Amino acid sequence: MKQDMILILDLGSEENPKIAREIRAMGVYTEIHAHDITAQELAALPGVKGIILNGGPNRVVDGVEIDAGEAVYGSGLPVLCADHKGAPAWPADGTLREAALRDFVFGTCGAQANWNMENFIADQVELIRRQVGDKKVLLALSGGVDSSVVAALLIKAIGKQLTCVHVNHGLLRKGEPEQVVQVFRHEMDANLIYVDAVDRFLDKLAGVADPERKRKIIGAEFIRVFEEEARKLEGIEFLAQGTIYPDIIESGTKTVKAVKSHHNVGGLPEDLNFALVEPLKMLFKDEVRACGKALGLPDGMVYRQPFPGPGLGVRCLGAITRDRLEAVRESDAILREEFAKNGLEGKVWQYFTAIPDLKSVGVRDNRRADEWCVIIRAVNTVDAMTATVENVPFDLLQHITARITAEVKGVNRVLFDLTPKPTGTIEWE
Ligand code: XMP
Repeated sequence: MKQDMILILDLGSEENPKIAREIRAMGVYTEIHAHDITAQELAALPGVKGIILNGGPNRVVDGVEIDAGEAVYGSGLPVLCADHKGAPAWPADGTLREAALRDFVFGTCGAQANWNMENFIADQVELIRRQVGDKKVLLALSGGVDSSVVAALLIKAIGKQLTCVHVNHGLLRKGEPEQVVQVFRHEMDANLIYVDAVDRFLDKLAGVADPERKRKIIGAEFIRVFEEEARKLEGIEFLAQGTIYPDIIESGTKTVKAVKSHHNVGGLPEDLNFALVEPLKMLFKDEVRACGKALGLPDGMVYRQPFPGPGLGVRCLGAITRDRLEAVRESDAILREEFAKNGLEGKVWQYFTAIPDLKSVGVRDNRRADEWCVIIRAVNTVDAMTATVENVPFDLLQHITARITAEVKGVNRVLFDLTPKPTGTIEWE
């Protein structure tokens, strides 16, 4: 193995991700695990040079103060207990804190600063091969950042033992299904099953206006389609997932209750009882992107803006109709093209169009024309909890409006959403 690792055990500190990132910033790989790690689990982790027991306000679980066990204390590895009862375990002052961490990581543990994407990939490739052996792995490949990076990593590790299933539910952005096929089937020579499920999804969604019901239908149908494909394949023992560290935090840990349940694929029937392969589960989003870049994925895939799981389904408001769905897709493509041309790609956090279920009167070719309107949304945020509106140059907005009303069928008006979050959410849904 190429990397040293400092293991952080979760004894209820909210600072775990922060400490993990600070040590990574020093060039040493870290992983966060539960306090009750077994000797066997510990032995399976490569390159562990030392352990930090990071205690904090959530250390008492169900009335009992949790602690690490003999597996840890008897491991012979340097162990640092950082829990200063009630006070932050680490100095708030950045310099003092870094000095304390450096002292333990490099001094006590003698770790080398050898964490980089090349080494991470090399180690993961070896770990994946160890886990999977000569067995087969299945992956639902949406084309989003996380599933694409997992696919690229697994292709490197096990090549054709991986089967990727790309379900086109008709709610993807313009060019996305084609890009998945191009990159993974043609350029990376992967086993890729492309499922055209557009009619199936749109038929199920016909006439459904309630957003929650739309989401449920899309989620359930996705699982059904994926399950059907899984059943057609023989000898699959593993399911790969693009779980990343923030997903794990959101799903809850032994010391913190779940914020929301997280399912990448979730909900497969019990008899499809695959073991999971989740090679990105210790990475933060920016690290996942760096990993994808190091694996040779195109920038357009690695630096994509966030996109909801139910896709354009949340931006085609009310009951989805094919004409409005097409208009959302086309107007979104124009917006993205113009933002890219005008230096806003990569600068603005998220931008897209939405189409309400609303027609208004307009004039086209000297005649009255009742057509749809397109709403442009362009926002900046750090954590998506609050957001501000990008100050898009007015002449660019006018140019985009001219293009959308000329090029997108059935659209006669374009509106710009000036609302920050709160009071608006980012999506219109
Ligand atoms: P709202 O509309 O709640 O959105 O302000 C906040 C952010 O979350 C994204 N979003 C989703 N992301 N699956 C996702 O992965 C989803 O189902 C989903 N719904 C909303 C939204 O695009 C925005 O960035």
